[in-house]
Amino acid sequence: MFTDISLTNDRPLYLQIRDYIRQMILRGLLSQGQKLPSTRELSDTLEVSRNTIILAYEYLEDEGFVKTIRGKGTFVSAVSIDYKNVWDMDWNSRLTPYANMANRLDIVKHESKWQKGMISFKSIAPDDKLFDVEDFKRAFQNRFSLEGEKLLNYGYAQGYKPLIDYLLHYMENKGVSTQGKSILITNGFTEGFDIVLSALVNPGNYILCENPTHNTAIKIMKLHHQKIIGIDMEEDGINLAKLEKALANNPVSMAFLIPSYHNPTGVIMSPQKRIQVLDIFARYKVPVIEDGFNEELRYSGSHLSPLAALCGSGNSVIYIGSLSKVLFPGLRIGWILGDKELISKLESVKRSRNIHTSFLDQALLYEYLSRGNLEKYLKKARKTYREKYDLAIECAREYIPHKTVLGEGGLHIFIELADHVDARQVLTRSIRRNVIFMPGDIFYTDGKGSNTLRLGFARSTLNEIKKGFKIIGNVVKEMEE
Ligand SMILES: Cc1ncc(COP(=O)(O)O)c(C=O)c1O
Repeated sequence: MFTDISLTNDRPLYLQIRDYIRQMILRGLLSQGQKLPSTRELSDTLEVSRNTIILAYEYLEDEGFVKTIRGKGTFVSAVSIDYKNVWDMDWNSRLTPYANMANRLDIVKHESKWQKGMISFKSIAPDDKLFDVEDFKRAFQNRFSLEGEKLLNYGYAQGYKPLIDYLLHYMENKGVSTQGKSILITNGFTEGFDIVLSALVNPGNYILCENPTHNTAIKIMKLHHQKIIGIDMEEDGINLAKLEKALANNPVSMAFLIPSYHNPTGVIMSPQKRIQVLDIFARYKVPVIEDGFNEELRYSGSHLSPLAALCGSGNSVIYIGSLSKVLFPGLRIGWILGDKELISKLESVKRSRNIHTSFLDQALLYEYLSRGNLEKYLKKARKTYREKYDLAIECAREYIPHKTVLGEGGLHIFIELADHVDARQVLTRSIRRNVIFMPGDIFYTDGKGSNTLRLGFARSTLNEIKKGFKIIGNVVKEMEE
């Protein structure tokens, strides 16, 4: 005993020794009343300072594992756990339909995985090489020295007030009227969408969205047992005739739209269509959840007003924003902008789930944003992404035999292959040549899209885009032969 302990340099030694002795006690290898070696003895055995052992024993005593009797020594006081009493559950048989469905729809688990050495167009995560870590560090130091203690305590469910005010102003700059509106800070779009659905739809309701659409949104709608009506996309957004028909024929309770740099198609809904879409929903009195996740990643063309701006002072559009593509997805910060009364109810849903989004993260983000860093970062990011986007479009058109190549900005493009070409087979063959991408069918609400694929380019180099697209193109050509 004590000779098999291997001490490393990555943790304080007294903690490693404390953990070792604690394990011995818990596993019954040191029994109640047994005397531990003296601090001098153990320090000699382990070749560490005596203070290290004293500290380890003090911690063990604080935690109730040992008792030191002055002049006599240190004795084990805890009773060991009897590991023979094994009791296993069959957890799978206990899973709720919710958990089973979440597991079944979890594409991270079920889709082909990236492996070292592969060129990947699978993800639409931003390129972390662009992150200005130094500016963020400065923001951390400033904000933490201003209110560190406060930020480590509980905060408010609605969010960190300075960040809420910043985002209200940010939304006003997009032309959104914030009169009578309020903001709830969430853990990204994903939690925001789940909270909105939790508050506003019942199982069996009809929800309408673009087809294809964001796979995570499909998953959440399914987990809320929604009847999903997917409306075909055109090159300037949702098909209006099909939208009108669906609304006329079904009791739709809610709509979910991604008007800018739609995922997966990359399509921007045209300004005229935005107005027409709102008119149609107004006629059928169907509220809209607008996903504005990518609006800032515009590389050309004029400013686009979100639907939330076009509905003026009306309260029928709920806007969900996220900084996951525009800035740092790891922070998990998004927001819901909507009617004040509604936001107050959503705040209670948020509180009942996780009390609030990390105040430390919100405050750091606020500090970072308020110093003009977003604008500075976007200027740089847009330039890099634009270069990649231009090349991606050019290479897709040149190398990959296609029916359509879609994408007007953002971090991905979408390709429709000839009807008979199966994108999953293209994927399997491309993976053999070390290129991976996202098959398009996962974005469809009706099982279609077998001839489509989404290519995320943000984290690839220009060379990888060229090389990878050529490889995919060659696979498609072989399959067409
Ligand atoms: C359509 C859409 N909305 C929002 C997001 C961002 O989600 P989150 O903020 O939860 O990271 C994504 C990310 O891929 C997306 O594709």
